[in-house]
Amino acid sequence: MATVDQLFQPIQGRTDDTGSKVTVVGVGQVGMAAVFSMLTQGVTNNIALVDVMADKLKGEMMDLQHGSAFMRNAKIQASTDYSITTGSKICVVTAGVRQREGESRLNLVQRNTDVLKIIIPQLVKYSPDAIFIIASNPVDILTYVTWKISGLPKHRVIGSGTNLDSARFRYLLSEKLGVATTSCHGYIIGEHGDSSVPVWSGVNIAGVRLSDLNPKIGTESDTENWKETHDMVVKSAYEVIKLKGYTSWAIGLSLAQLARAVLSNANSVHAVSTYIKGEHGIEQEVFLSLPCVLGQNGVYDVIRQPLTETESAQLRKSAELMDKVQEGIQF
Ligand code: NAI
Ligand code: 2OP
Repeated sequence: MATVDQLFQPIQGRTDDTGSKVTVVGVGQVGMAAVFSMLTQGVTNNIALVDVMADKLKGEMMDLQHGSAFMRNAKIQASTDYSITTGSKICVVTAGVRQREGESRLNLVQRNTDVLKIIIPQLVKYSPDAIFIIASNPVDILTYVTWKISGLPKHRVIGSGTNLDSARFRYLLSEKLGVATTSCHGYIIGEHGDSSVPVWSGVNIAGVRLSDLNPKIGTESDTENWKETHDMVVKSAYEVIKLKGYTSWAIGLSLAQLARAVLSNANSVHAVSTYIKGEHGIEQEVFLSLPCVLGQNGVYDVIRQPLTETESAQLRKSAELMDKVQEGIQF
């Protein structure tokens, strides 16, 4: 083109590589919330979107591209063809069905396993060195499924897990205590969802453990009924789904935080779903959440939290449940 030829004196060819490419498979509510969080927070400026719905995919891509002037040199591609995902540092999987009102996450297992059987081999083919972050539900089991299908080392397959449950917990603690969410520290571990385990023994504000102030905290015999706070976390998704049909913003922000930890090689600690055979007396090959150190190669360490006997027994019960569900999966 004459105008372009007049404008430029070429010195060398260009590259599209930004060093932080993230693929997101599934441009539904969760996928787009994650993409929006990542782009607007500057976690990445290089996104590849994949879905089976070509029109929706193109519409989402165009809508985001029209916001480029408000972002940081964003490069946004979308296609039903996985070749656009080539060389991703992270592959985030949010594709598949979600729960209907009142439905449990575990109910989705075979339908979403079948979706992953299509997606995962394609992602591995084009980005063999990527870190995989799974959000599709039931997330702990689908993280195991991804690990099995992909053949990747376990430290490179991460489930978004209870990073979200822990965030909900901290928010509810902040409401109860009148302290900012970021100043309320505590972890929910185990299954993302119904059998999650609150680690009351570690909940603290500025290092002051609530369990030192109230030794019965979180138990049935606690007259202050702190247990209700965890019950509310478990009910959170059901309530939001009943009210708006799906959950999106909090999981989108959670996924962006995990992507940032990997891309910036942060060594930051997050409760994510990881291979936990051998931890806390768990004998099954299952993925459940424990606090993990995350960086550019995925999971570096699992933090060994001292758990009470009740907490570790609850964790082992979740592991048994995961194992039982996994036995019924058709690969
Ligand atoms: P959605 O229905 O809005 O989007 C799902 C997307 O997946 C659709 O665009 C669909 O076309 C796409 N899809 C389906 N099959 C595909 C395939 N074979 N290849 C590529 N794309 C495919 O659902 P939403 O609300 O975004 O939820 C997605 C998943 O995330 C659900 O399983 C949901 O339960 C889960 N979720 C997980 C959370 C967590 O904390 N881990 C939180 C919220 C939702
Ligand atoms: C959530 O907890 C439904 O797993 C989803 O928001």
